[in-house]
Amino acid sequence: MKKFLAMALALCMIFALCAVASADDVKTYKVGVSIYQFTDNFMTLYRNEIENYFKSLETDSVKYEITMADGKNDMAEQTNQVQNFITQGMDVIILNLVQTSSADAVIDMVVDAGIPLVLINREPLAYDADGNTIDEAYEGILDNPTVCYVGADARQSGTFQGQMVLALDNKGDLNGDGKVSYIMIEGDPENIDAQYRTQFSIKALTDAGVEVEELFDQVGNWDQTKGQELCASALTQFGDKVEVVFCNNDAMALGAATAITAAGRTVGEDIYLYGVDALEEAVQLIKEGEMSGTVLNDAMGQSHAAVDVAIQLLNGEEIQNYYWVDYVMVDKAYAEANY
Ligand code: BGC
Repeated sequence: MKKFLAMALALCMIFALCAVASADDVKTYKVGVSIYQFTDNFMTLYRNEIENYFKSLETDSVKYEITMADGKNDMAEQTNQVQNFITQGMDVIILNLVQTSSADAVIDMVVDAGIPLVLINREPLAYDADGNTIDEAYEGILDNPTVCYVGADARQSGTFQGQMVLALDNKGDLNGDGKVSYIMIEGDPENIDAQYRTQFSIKALTDAGVEVEELFDQVGNWDQTKGQELCASALTQFGDKVEVVFCNNDAMALGAATAITAAGRTVGEDIYLYGVDALEEAVQLIKEGEMSGTVLNDAMGQSHAAVDVAIQLLNGEEIQNYYWVDYVMVDKAYAEANY
């Protein structure tokens, strides 16, 4: 009996030790993510994939506890969230800035707290001594070995939009008057994606020797309802003169598609419509002929790159300061073959 008790006791001790050991073996990393605005269509895909991908990389011994915060398009609110992340002792922060002009202040806060930082989607702009933005890498990122930016080069997306127009038999000149008359619906103008897409879509045309006429250029702030309103008002104002509608993103292009139908116009016949992002609804419209094309802004590729580098930072590995994910041109043929 004594022997039996001794054995039972020994077994209990072994089990207890194993339990302690396995609890010790599980490392849970705390990840703070702040997105500029939850209602943004594209950033919704992006943030969902950040969570999914982190979860898919969990093992028996490594877990990720993700806190996802909505910046509500308010920089003060987002600064508070970052402060909270610091107080809560996050192991890494992933940040989609509301305002890239606040990058310096936020980077300083996070670096001073000794927390690695991955900036995504909204690239902070480098500036010269006079405060004018310049086309160079951002020192606040380059100077910090634990800070990086993951994004896509928006010049490429603009250029692809222009190239899709150039690929049309009439190069976008529906009425044969020798020039492409277009309207431009822009995203948030502080955002380099909006600036570059606006500029490079047209540059692709003019570089190819195509004459252009800008009828209308207004800010729709990446928003579907705004895109619809602006396109409707441009069509009322300029009617048949409008040959091409460029939207800086698909959300606004989806709105524009509604306005185009409501105005009795037909995409592919008497007007062309282009977006960026390759949202599912937009690709569907391209297949049905209600949009002329879009450009894949790879939310999967970018979110995976952001998570991969966040994990490298958690492991104390050396990282690059910039990671770029390519855009892909999505015309009807591509949409039919790939979606
Ligand atoms: C996307 C937009 C999105 C914006 C948010 C852009 O890269 O194309 O759809 O609204 O990022 O910053």
